[in-house]
Amino acid sequence: MLDGKRILLVVTGGIAAYKCLEVIRRVRERGGHVRCILTRGGAQFVTPLALGALSEDWVFQDLFSLTDEQEIGHIRLSREADVVLVAPASANVLAKMASGQADDLATTALLATDKPVVVAPAMNPAMWEHPATKANMAVLEERGVHRIGPAEGAMAESGEWGMGRMAEPDAIVAALEGLLGGAQAGLLKDRRALVTSGPTHEAIDPVRFLANRSSGKQGHAVAAALARLGATTTLVSGPTHQPEPAGVNVVHVETAREMLDACLGALPVDVAVMAAAVADWRPADAARAKLKKPAKGGKSAPPSLKLVENPDILATVSGRNEGRPHLVIGFAAETDAVVENAVAKRRAKGCDWLVANDVSAAVGTFGGDDNQVHLITADGVEEWPKVSKLAVAERLAQRIAETLKTA
Ligand code: C5P
Repeated sequence: MLDGKRILLVVTGGIAAYKCLEVIRRVRERGGHVRCILTRGGAQFVTPLALGALSEDWVFQDLFSLTDEQEIGHIRLSREADVVLVAPASANVLAKMASGQADDLATTALLATDKPVVVAPAMNPAMWEHPATKANMAVLEERGVHRIGPAEGAMAESGEWGMGRMAEPDAIVAALEGLLGGAQAGLLKDRRALVTSGPTHEAIDPVRFLANRSSGKQGHAVAAALARLGATTTLVSGPTHQPEPAGVNVVHVETAREMLDACLGALPVDVAVMAAAVADWRPADAARAKLKKPAKGGKSAPPSLKLVENPDILATVSGRNEGRPHLVIGFAAETDAVVENAVAKRRAKGCDWLVANDVSAAVGTFGGDDNQVHLITADGVEEWPKVSKLAVAERLAQRIAETLKTA
């Protein structure tokens, strides 16, 4: 998918720099070419030798290097690429880009380029949350810089946890593919999409809730893939740790009922993809105060939970007479008889397609990065190979685009 594409990779300072080696490898596997600029900070974490060996090209480091300048020159360097990728993008480089500084080769090339720029921020969560970084990022996005990540996770230093991990190489490469897809990028232009993702939380009392193991990875990836093809995309997300996909309008909800309201509010759309793992039931009455055990020594039976059924969002959207999306797609998480159950479910829910996956613990779909699905349509059952959730999302988005083309 990146055949013949030229990526100028700017590596700035950050422990995540090691991941850019994997990015180079994957771009090259897909037929792309990578040329690297390594900043002084970046060189503290990854060597020019490693970048040069993997990219099989010269690694540029110095703005005032006579040999480099005679060889290619910093302006040409920034123009001879199809896209400029900054990964990892430190808080410092984002600040310099936002204010137009050009005091080294990387920032000079970034200021001189006339090509799309993608940044993959990576930094400590406090730095990412800082109003200065937020303002810089907002300025850059407003100017058309594309952002991928960061994601939430453990930080390299001091055992901290939070938003600031660089997006995974797979996600970065998928973003490049989406961006460089050329004609593909506009496949869903003028189309509207609605995607649900993640679990729902159903309150038992103010501190406890019923939930499930959905991570939101698949749903978020579908929303990102549809947006990359040009669809105006609304993502209604239950509580997840996924970063908001770039270019997607995200509505955060907690409960199934809130999710239903948000979905109905997002209509009309051309396609609705319901990837959320909506809780089928909720406690009949959420207690106003925290349920308590009896005081020490006292005895009473544990509280029993009375459950009532939640609205079925997929069936509701599929069953609409007015304003039904042209294409309604459900997801089915099954632990046994996956295909049989999914075929029956497609009919029962009234949706057009159903993406069925095996979520038995042995397969590790929930929370994992890979997915093996069956696509069930009115025409039959297709088995898709086991690939990353991002690749499943890309393929599904392509199919949606093909189908809507004739709609
Ligand atoms: O019935 P089941 O939960 O297996 O169906 C899965 C599909 O139905 C998913 O697409 C899910 O988003 C959707 N669903 C829903 N509302 C519910 C339950 C499931 O939209 N209350």
